[in-house]
Amino acid sequence: MISKLPHVGTTIFTVVSRRARELGALNLGQGFPDYDIDPRLAELVAQAMRTGFNQYAPMEGAMSLREAIASKLERYYGLRRDPLAEITVTLGATEAIFSAIQAAVGAGDEVIAFDPAYDSYEPAVRLAGARCIRLPLTQPGFRYDWDRVRATLTARTRLILFNSPHNPACTTASAADLEALADVTRDRDILVLSDEVYEHVVFDGARHHSVLCHPELAQRSFAVFSFGKTLHATGLRIGYCVAPAALTQELRKVHQFNTFSIAHPLQEAIAGYLREKPDSGAGLAPFFQAKRDRLRAALAGSAFALPPAQGTYFQLLDFSALSKEGDLRFAERLLTEAGVATIPLAPFYESPQPLPFVRLCIAKQDATLDEAARRLNRFAGAVAA
Ligand SMILES: Cc1ncc(COP(=O)(O)O)c(C=O)c1O
Repeated sequence: MISKLPHVGTTIFTVVSRRARELGALNLGQGFPDYDIDPRLAELVAQAMRTGFNQYAPMEGAMSLREAIASKLERYYGLRRDPLAEITVTLGATEAIFSAIQAAVGAGDEVIAFDPAYDSYEPAVRLAGARCIRLPLTQPGFRYDWDRVRATLTARTRLILFNSPHNPACTTASAADLEALADVTRDRDILVLSDEVYEHVVFDGARHHSVLCHPELAQRSFAVFSFGKTLHATGLRIGYCVAPAALTQELRKVHQFNTFSIAHPLQEAIAGYLREKPDSGAGLAPFFQAKRDRLRAALAGSAFALPPAQGTYFQLLDFSALSKEGDLRFAERLLTEAGVATIPLAPFYESPQPLPFVRLCIAKQDATLDEAARRLNRFAGAVAA
């Protein structure tokens, strides 16, 4: 059989998690919490199953959950979205991204993504038969080069993949970035897929700029979210896509033959949870900011530098003062010599850049973060000696 994705192997996240388990290393690589979920959510899941929500959910998503999402959009962003026509529940953000890309592009089309790019984007574009053009965010600080974006647009450009707060750069897009995105897509047949899974994890009092709040971008965007991130439960695999009715209609045509419908009792449980705790999202920024600050303080005296982290549940570690090795090699050393699993940035690039960063996940118990910092400090001390 001829591979449709000849360059795709097992994702770096799966590989690193497997090796961390084998080596007994602390896993700050893959982005998932190592602490318990709210027990109330677990109760609501059991309750939903006992109540009998055990058969197919509606293809578009359980109405209770779509209504809860609509209330959430109103509460956090002052937006009114129609749960019938504009909100679709998906199998995590990953499915929303995949289905939106299949719906939006086909053979001969071009899609722009910004490197470092989340690893599911390009394979989804290729499977749709389209071409993914990857533009690096510029250093320092992973900034958008909007002139380069403009110069890259062709008559075949159909979609721009946007991500804020950004994994793995840990940056947040500014209002000016959204303006620029609106400007480059204006009067062209170009849609936007905005990956906003870390919408609530924005630090230092800043606010998240969603494409949904930009009236012009909202008209041509699929905005993608994840309950795995907001409920500290990546295993739930429930996300959603908010898009204008015409785009939603096309998205659902793919979704219904991709996953058809999403775990019914989990949807009912999340709907119940959001009704009971409508402000739970607001607690995420202070919760993760405390973890970010704890880790940064614990590493402050080391030879590692810590680039600003404006959002997401990650922190980059700059190892340039310690080593001139590439990030893949340095991450391997941290895994085997320091006993800390991290994620290098090279796999997020089409053409890996010589960047001195590895990514640490801060969605961990304080004790895990403290122990990781202890190991990293000891390693840095030994390398510097
Ligand atoms: C930027 C980004 N997009 C999408 C996803 C996928 O989200 P989900 O787990 O809901 O599929 C992740 C998960 O880490 C992510 O970091």
